[in-house]
Amino acid sequence: MIRVLVVRGSPFKGGNSDRLADEFLKGAEGVISLEGDFRACDMNVGFCRSCRICEREGECVLEDEGRKFYKSCSEVDVLVVATPLHFGGLPSRLVALVERAQVEWARNRRDENLLLSRKHRADGALRRGYIIVAGGEKREAVGRPAIIILRNWFATLGFTPTAILYAAGYNSHNEVAKDTQVLHKAFLLGKSLCG
Ligand SMILES: Cc1cc2nc3c(=O)[nH]c(=O)nc-3n(C[C@H](O)[C@H](O)[C@H](O)COP(=O)(O)O)c2cc1C
Repeated sequence: MIRVLVVRGSPFKGGNSDRLADEFLKGAEGVISLEGDFRACDMNVGFCRSCRICEREGECVLEDEGRKFYKSCSEVDVLVVATPLHFGGLPSRLVALVERAQVEWARNRRDENLLLSRKHRADGALRRGYIIVAGGEKREAVGRPAIIILRNWFATLGFTPTAILYAAGYNSHNEVAKDTQVLHKAFLLGKSLCG
């Protein structure tokens, strides 16, 4: 079984990015074990204080769900992030969660081998990261800042960015539900985990 962790960025439950994440999971049914399904805005995660103590201690001073989340991250094969665009970037609570990966960045810097080893599963296969973005604006350039941030995040956590599903043109929360093509794309992306 492929161990998968999902992170949802939308503060609105059941909207476009959620639907796409759900299709991905449907496609992957039978071959994955879902180790966690997090919604950033429901988590108790403080923002990074930039105290740099993690650089000395290898641990974040904040004892909250952020710590637990990153522990779970280190134990899975696939990370899926599904999020709407907010001002070209990520919703604020997801930003807070992403920033907390600074402790992981500090660990990688102390021990470069750690990052290399985290890029692979025990059997040598790559640990894969999938990005699903829902936006209102159709031009892909609008979502580039969000994608750059998520790619940096994956790199810090030792996941290889494997696919990006950029689903745009959805200005209300239920619009993706009517777009069977894009839902199918998300399903196939999930199914591709089996291959
Ligand atoms: C605060 C806020 C900012 C947004 N900024 C953008 C933006 O910069 N670019 C864009 O294409 N859509 C933007 N949108 C629209 C959402 O990304 C879009 O409607 C998305 O499909 C919603 O996904 P969800 O249903 O998963 O929340 C914004 C929406 C909100 C509420």
